[in-house]
Amino acid sequence: MQTSFISSVTEEHVQRAAAILNDGGLVAFPTETVYGLGALATNETAVKKIFAAKGRPSDNPLIIHIADFSEVTRYAREIPPIAERLAEEFWGGPLTMIFKKQPSVPDAVTAGLDTVAIRLPSHPIAYRLIKAAGSGIAAPSANTSGRPSPTTAADVLADMEGKIEMILDGGTSEHGVESTVLDLTSSTPRILRPGAVSLEMLLPFLPDCTYASANHCDKPACPGMKYTHYAPDAKVFAVKTLSVLDVNRLTENDPDAGILALSVEESGYRAAHLLSAGKTAADYAACLFSYLREADRRGIRTLYAVLPSPDGIGTAVINRLTKAAGGDIL
Ligand code: TXA
Ligand code: MG
Repeated sequence: MQTSFISSVTEEHVQRAAAILNDGGLVAFPTETVYGLGALATNETAVKKIFAAKGRPSDNPLIIHIADFSEVTRYAREIPPIAERLAEEFWGGPLTMIFKKQPSVPDAVTAGLDTVAIRLPSHPIAYRLIKAAGSGIAAPSANTSGRPSPTTAADVLADMEGKIEMILDGGTSEHGVESTVLDLTSSTPRILRPGAVSLEMLLPFLPDCTYASANHCDKPACPGMKYTHYAPDAKVFAVKTLSVLDVNRLTENDPDAGILALSVEESGYRAAHLLSAGKTAADYAACLFSYLREADRRGIRTLYAVLPSPDGIGTAVINRLTKAAGGDIL
């Protein structure tokens, strides 16, 4: 299959992309979090193609992307009143809410669960595409399963060339980590995946909101959590307590070692490859996945990624890095 790569997206391109979706094809599109790989949510055959293109296990459900809050009732039922308040505050934006599903939502989207994940992205191209398609778009991140999520259209091309009909380039993703996934169907609201909408931001609306700890997360509450994620070819270690000196001791005399950290040089880190994650946790989130891909291009074999402090979007960075490290924390 020939993949059309569209770099300056016009209204005509959006119409073409919407036609591809309505014909049962796949289109990758930008969002403010990461790039998505979309199929029409109501077309089960098309949705199944997403799993094939990504090599994604079929028991890991997808998020339906919509363009207006009123569309929630097409896919979900028993919507708690707080959902509209959260939508006013955080949509369009990086918050996914989980509701009970409508029977009409194809099983391929929800992996057979009785619940459905819905989000309204803020990226203008995503919004225009959903509007033009006239239906919700089911979309996971547009990476090969297990690889870092794509934050540029070039990252999508690297994983999806020849497997999907079209890629819409909308620049570098603003947040760089995937949306916060909030389960509103459990007895108390739970964050299944941390993102740019942090626990601190949700607490004023949901005083009893907590993180679902991985230990308490049995199937089917958070199916995506059990798979290896975000892994580059390099071996990643998440550095939590090790001192700068101790990390430098591990990297000295190793030409294939790298260190990724906030203000990496100012902090005194030394390695053949120093990757600066910027000054703030938001900077770190924005460059994290592109650095994991960059590490492979540079031939880094061992990457020490120093964790930021565990608040705000820093929690999401820690979550992704811990997974990329396969739980190896120093
Ligand atoms: O920011 C994002 O959320 C991006 C962009 C493209 O919107 N999408 C994304 O999709 O990250 P994906 O498929 O890579 O991650 C969706 C996560 C998975 O961990 C999945 O298990 C979880 O959401 N999920 C989806 N539906 C669910 C459900 N009904 N119950 C529990 N978890 C669900
Ligand atoms: Mg993903």
